[in-house]
Amino acid sequence: DQQIRKQMRDAHRVVAELYHEVLMKTEAGDVGLTYLTNRGLHEETIAAYKIGYAPDQRRFTVDSLERRGFDLEVMVEAGLISKSRAGEYFDRFEGRVVFPIADRDGTIVGFSGRSIDERNPKYVNTSDTPLFNKSELLFGFPQARATMRKQKRVFLVEGNVDVLQVAQAGTKEVVASLGTAFSSGHARALARMVDEVIVCYDGDHAGQEATLKVVRLLETYPLDVQVLLLPEKTDPDDYIRTNGTEQWQRFVDSERLSVLDFMNRTLRRGKNLNREGERIRFIESMLEEISKSDNSIRRDLYVKKLADEFEIPVNTLLSRMPATGKKEQ
Ligand code: GTP
Ligand code: MN
Ligand code: MN
Ligand code: MN
Ligand code: MN
Repeated sequence: DQQIRKQMRDAHRVVAELYHEVLMKTEAGDVGLTYLTNRGLHEETIAAYKIGYAPDQRRFTVDSLERRGFDLEVMVEAGLISKSRAGEYFDRFEGRVVFPIADRDGTIVGFSGRSIDERNPKYVNTSDTPLFNKSELLFGFPQARATMRKQKRVFLVEGNVDVLQVAQAGTKEVVASLGTAFSSGHARALARMVDEVIVCYDGDHAGQEATLKVVRLLETYPLDVQVLLLPEKTDPDDYIRTNGTEQWQRFVDSERLSVLDFMNRTLRRGKNLNREGERIRFIESMLEEISKSDNSIRRDLYVKKLADEFEIPVNTLLSRMPATGKKEQ
């Protein structure tokens, strides 16, 4: 078992190196490099994250691994290649730009592959394997580590490309969870390293819904949580590409919202608060959000702010607040 895990780790290191070389040094990788360059990514960024390209060949990875003596059954189990029903081995990330995903120590344990043509799906990720556990891994963690420690803060974004762009814009303390929901394992890992988490998900509806969930989860840890609310239909990558690095830095410094202010903005969207009924419903939905916070001091601070804004006695609000402290799993 230890032997098999070691073989899997070795294979990931070899394959990541291969894909990276293909991208940087070969003609087969030109399409990948052009794709990344067109997305505004520099060679230093590509190198720092060891981005690669998996050639558009059915057996490039299979053959490379076989030639080096790796056991192909183990490679299938490691998620590096696939096996057809007929028992044929074939590549998994062919024709995709690949983002290596490393654990906290920087050991590569999986990949996320982005299609650069109309090929679907847009992203293919390693599925859970003995090495790869989505709910514990964060893209960009090893690269962000030193700065996270020093600055005591981290930016949390949705996508791999967002991580690259934000880091390239000078904010090195940035990570992304891998598509699926941000988990308590992620939150715990971050809480061990930083005091402050700035959630910067996409400005669309899905991004905001996800932000609400993440924020609640993060707030069960002793963390200062803030939200950077992007314009509708924009993610950090879009924002930086459209507005440039300097405006991004200004945006980051001046537009951070407290959790309450974020909830306030989100929940008030599309409501006319001059109407008594809508105002009441808004206040009730705010109380519901506040009640989900695990921290009683935080809850009190929020209720106080809400009371001030709408000139309602704190006790009235407290009497209407749903049962508190529901633990998120
Ligand atoms: P780009 O188009 O490369 O900028 O990605 P995006 O900004 O459109 O990504 P999106 O906001 O749609 O999704 C954020 C993250 O979700 C991505 O970085 C992926 O990790 C994941 N994701 C997006 N699409 C897919 C998909 O088709 N399959 C899987 N498995 N994951 C996806
Ligand atoms: Mn999105
Ligand atoms: Mn996005
Ligand atoms: Mn998209
Ligand atoms: Mn994007």
